[in-house]
Amino acid sequence: MGIERLAPRHVARMRAAGRAAAATLAHVAAHLRPGMSTAELDRLVREDTARRGARPSQLGYHGFPAAVCTSRNDVVCHGIPRDDERLEAGDIIAVDVTSELDGWHGDTCATFAIGEPSPEARHVLEVARRCRDAGIAAVRDGVRVGDVGAVIEALAAREGCGIVREVGGHGIGRAMHLPPHIEHFGPPGRGPRLRAGMAITIEPIVTLGPARVRLDADGWTMRTLDGSPSAQFEHTVVVTPTGCEVLTPPP
Ligand code: MF3
Ligand code: CO
Ligand code: CO
Repeated sequence: MGIERLAPRHVARMRAAGRAAAATLAHVAAHLRPGMSTAELDRLVREDTARRGARPSQLGYHGFPAAVCTSRNDVVCHGIPRDDERLEAGDIIAVDVTSELDGWHGDTCATFAIGEPSPEARHVLEVARRCRDAGIAAVRDGVRVGDVGAVIEALAAREGCGIVREVGGHGIGRAMHLPPHIEHFGPPGRGPRLRAGMAITIEPIVTLGPARVRLDADGWTMRTLDGSPSAQFEHTVVVTPTGCEVLTPPP
């Protein structure tokens, strides 16, 4: 399947969907506190998404049972919100919000510190944010997907961190997941060229040391093999001739 290049009027729709997702993520961020359950985060996402006239894209996606992914500490991604999982001081938690507005999707994730996490957890959180932003800075018309991944992996390696290989960014538009697949690692010069009008996500998951992961019996929750903390940040962007526009900016 080819990679769609969006007309300006469709970029405008993506902007609206992206802003809705970013606003819901900010709404969750404003309510985070020790003692609350991740199921409460799911309720916040459902309420705020509905208030914006949107739908949580993740709910029911390949059977995913929640509106949001809540990935705490050693959970690298796709954590399922639960009543019996409570935030504690010292945790870090990634909250991944995807909203569908008028048929278009916006996808964004950030990792938050609850209280005072360990220096290691703080480090992985900061490196994940910087890796996402370095990837975004590498995006422009004509660049190959592999060029973006190489920049991200190089930064993680410089900081003594790993990149989870099992999860990548993706095209996004009238569906949450579209081609191309965006690896956040690997050599430059490979993969399809990004062209102005393409909408993609950049969403590296960063670990301390090598990024070995395993899947829980629930078929969704992915964890680090050694139990160390990991972090993820994600933006939806649209490629422009000279760079890209972030479609999920924090409000
Ligand atoms: N929002 C996630 C992403 O960044 C999608 C998770 S799929 C789910 O691609 F089913 F786990 F929600
Ligand atoms: Co995504
Ligand atoms: Co996401």
